[in-house]
Amino acid sequence: MKQRVVIVILALMVAVGYVRAAEPKIIPLPRSIELMDGVCRIEQGMKIGCCDEELLPAARYLAEHLNIGITRSGGVVRLAVDGTLGTEQYSVVVSEDGVVISGGDYGGVFNAITTLLQLCPEGVYDDSCTLPIGIPFCEIEDQPRWSHRGFMLDVCRTWMDVEAVKDYIDLLAYHKINNLRLHLTDDEAWRIDIESHPELARDGGFRGGDAKIWPRYGKWNERWGGYYTKQDIAELVEYARVRNITIIPEIDLPGHSLCLATLHPEILCRYEPNTSAAFGYDTRSAICPASEANYLLIEDIIAEVCAMFPSEYIHVGGDEVDMSQWRRCPDCRALMQREGMTSTEELQRYFMARIGDMLANYGKLPAVWNEAIDGGVLSTATRVYGWEGIKECRAAAAAGYDVVVMPGQYFYFDMKQTPREPGHDWAAIFDWTKVYGFTPASVGFTTSEQQNIIGLEASFFSEAYASRNPETADYLHYQTFPRLVALSEIAWVGGDERDKEEFYSRMVAHYARMDAMGVAYRLVPPKVKYSDGRLSVSVDDGSKVYYRLDAEDKEYLYTEPIATTSPAHYSFVSRRGKASSPEAAVEQHFRTITPAFKITSSMDDREAFSFEKAQGYGRLARTSRAADVGDWVMFTFDQPVRCRRMKVATGNFQLPRYIFENGYVEVSYDGVAFERVGDLEAGMFFIESPARAIKAVRITATSRGNGAEWVSIQPPTIWPLL
Ligand code: ACM
Ligand code: ZN
Repeated sequence: MKQRVVIVILALMVAVGYVRAAEPKIIPLPRSIELMDGVCRIEQGMKIGCCDEELLPAARYLAEHLNIGITRSGGVVRLAVDGTLGTEQYSVVVSEDGVVISGGDYGGVFNAITTLLQLCPEGVYDDSCTLPIGIPFCEIEDQPRWSHRGFMLDVCRTWMDVEAVKDYIDLLAYHKINNLRLHLTDDEAWRIDIESHPELARDGGFRGGDAKIWPRYGKWNERWGGYYTKQDIAELVEYARVRNITIIPEIDLPGHSLCLATLHPEILCRYEPNTSAAFGYDTRSAICPASEANYLLIEDIIAEVCAMFPSEYIHVGGDEVDMSQWRRCPDCRALMQREGMTSTEELQRYFMARIGDMLANYGKLPAVWNEAIDGGVLSTATRVYGWEGIKECRAAAAAGYDVVVMPGQYFYFDMKQTPREPGHDWAAIFDWTKVYGFTPASVGFTTSEQQNIIGLEASFFSEAYASRNPETADYLHYQTFPRLVALSEIAWVGGDERDKEEFYSRMVAHYARMDAMGVAYRLVPPKVKYSDGRLSVSVDDGSKVYYRLDAEDKEYLYTEPIATTSPAHYSFVSRRGKASSPEAAVEQHFRTITPAFKITSSMDDREAFSFEKAQGYGRLARTSRAADVGDWVMFTFDQPVRCRRMKVATGNFQLPRYIFENGYVEVSYDGVAFERVGDLEAGMFFIESPARAIKAVRITATSRGNGAEWVSIQPPTIWPLL
């Protein structure tokens, strides 16, 4: 009965034109699409018509994708600005007369082009499209909900060269993201050439090996990195502009300045720090706001940055300042007294206000992270990027600032997507469904607060990328797609209603385009079921499923249910194009055990992170100093442990930082004799299929710790025999 009602309703909808069989699955969803019978053929020799000089870059962009030429009059696809349309608003009309694209401005025309590409075969994205092609007759009218649809790329922790950034700009543009914030400076790198201070990029752009900057992430023994020259920046700014993307630079002040401080120690507060834990390396990261000389240095930098970027806003940081450094500084204390300040937050406000005034002299407006407004009011022209949480975003909106909403719990795409996948978890663990579900109203923004939201932005902080393969984009893609597809949809469409199933079906159709774009996106994990002695696996996204058996280094294509009495030995992944899913299996496959053990070491532990606390599993221990050559840590089990796999690791849980940068692993079966089983990689080692029960594991450093004040020690992770 229910089915019959649905069929009748569908038939009625078709009759009145709401639904057509081949409705294109466009992301983000346009405001209105009317589909008509027939297709417009684009054939070899046809041209894109563009009589408006200003639109030529957009015409060339489309011409490259369609593999056709440009003419200044006529043409099968005609581009024009229509003054009756608003900013970024557009229409696309496809009929027997060709394709007419109208935009309220350049951005509107570009938005129309990205929609038109989705009406074409996906070959337009990888240059495999051969003419002729047919574009369905239709009329599309569209405009964005939010004027700011942003993405932040951390090029400090992981260096990404001009080509890598351009490749990513292409992906943002296909998804109608119109703002790219380049996080150009941080504790670990300085990525932009400043001619008046050439040492900043020349030395600050590299870390590891014989570089002046100590390597906290990624490659340890080799000098690694890079920076953007003025020419590079000009090239990126123009590349983005053609694609309707404004690049906003971020110079992160006054915290996150360890790299700057390593090259210019005079910017730090005036007291003698204890550097013994890190072999003399001063790890302080905050600029002293009481030093007038610091403002001169910052102005040199700001002046050049303002000249390089045409953006209205310059982001000047303001997040996570270690204010304990200011509390210890006689100059900071004197300044606070002079100005009648009672908190270091006010001192931060003083600093940020001065930087804001500086920016005004160069015709720019300040953009800051949300903590920058904690110490009092800044100019209301300041744009606030709310990252810590909904509460902070709402407070900034209520205080009257323009707010970019990007709380980490929804929009930090460096977070894990499920607990066993790579990434961080300090903000949340979430996949695209949580991004898609976000609406300001549902998280508590009042109507008046919502009026100060200018848009949404996602972040990709790249600490974890550096220890993967930063020379390929795979990790960046996996973490950001399809979460960015969901961001694209909600930032463009807005609204308070969401239909997850409908969006998922559109997203799966979009996978074919992402395959052609070369995106190594994350697929939803395959569903694994074990019943009646058979393991069966299903996917609904056109991917193929592969499986492995424990202890075999071979992968098989899954074609039918597997008859087995030991399902936990099997694990599955799905793939299509460059995309892949996380590993899936019956839950028992992932089960780990926690036998009692003790940690001993050549180094002392820290009280708040004692060895004893880590022995309860679940938390880290920290040593009292960085490791030197020959330092060791040992795990001794109360009872010898039989297992199929054991991971021993230095470093933080989600990140190879505070590790033994080089070292080896020894195993003992009796607690007396040790045999070497391998070398650490990124601070960790997997002992595979040990033949006997393990009594103890010892890891020994073969290099001196580099830039950290301690070593983090994880409890071992142990997978039992099955
Ligand atoms: C931030 O994530 N520290 C802005
Ligand atoms: Zn100071």
